[in-house]
Amino acid sequence: MLKTQKKELDLSPYVVPQHVAIIMDGNGRWAKRRGLPRQAGHRAGAENLRRIVRASVEFGIKVLTIYAFSTENWGRPESEISALMRIFARVLDQEIDQLHAQGVCLHHLGELQGINPKLQDKVRRALEITKNNDRLILNVAFNYGGRAEILHAVRQMLADNVRPEDLTEELFSSYLFTSGLPDPDLVIRTSGELRISNFLIWQAAYAEYYPTPAYWPDFGREDLYAAIVAFNQRDRRYGLVSDDAG
Ligand code: FPP
Repeated sequence: MLKTQKKELDLSPYVVPQHVAIIMDGNGRWAKRRGLPRQAGHRAGAENLRRIVRASVEFGIKVLTIYAFSTENWGRPESEISALMRIFARVLDQEIDQLHAQGVCLHHLGELQGINPKLQDKVRRALEITKNNDRLILNVAFNYGGRAEILHAVRQMLADNVRPEDLTEELFSSYLFTSGLPDPDLVIRTSGELRISNFLIWQAAYAEYYPTPAYWPDFGREDLYAAIVAFNQRDRRYGLVSDDAG
């Protein structure tokens, strides 16, 4: 089979963001444009995830967070939800060896409760298999919502009798699903939407936002590279003034 030559992409002039988070949007529209059912878009989205994980490892990204299924997505038609669950289960079955071989450590952001118990078992197994890998941490936000995550953290803090005077941003962060991980530097959203959609709302406080018109199944290695280049053109100020502000 003819293999297409991988384009040389020079990252040496750039700082690679440590943590990239992606809202993988546009699967449905990708499918519709081709006259296919929405599920076909999600299958193509899952295929693309494999490419983007590979590219992330290649580029030296340390943490990649993907928004796979939100707490709000339960409101979608039953047929679409079950198709998505089947895709997640298949990806966990078929991709875990490859992910493990690439040094990917899988993390789950969100609540496992409420998910089909068989799928829960597959997730737990995948986390166990990859737990000692450190090349790339792949956070899969699944049954995840930013507000739900904050409530979960507050409940835990109350249960731990955290005293108000001891509450700091660092302590609060340690109660989130992303505990111990750096905050995202760059949040990418495909399909041209300009919303944050309840994604990492605490952690992304100072992230650079990069919307791109590409539908998720079409967002490739070169698009990820372009996002990194754009990230390097931003002046991250964290509420301060820039060095050249005079
Ligand atoms: C958004 O497209 C995508 C999702 C809600 C699901 C994302 C799932 C995948 C990419 C499948 C693979 C993921 C894993 C973790 C195996 P949309 O349906 O909202 O698209 P639309 O806005 O065009 O309708």
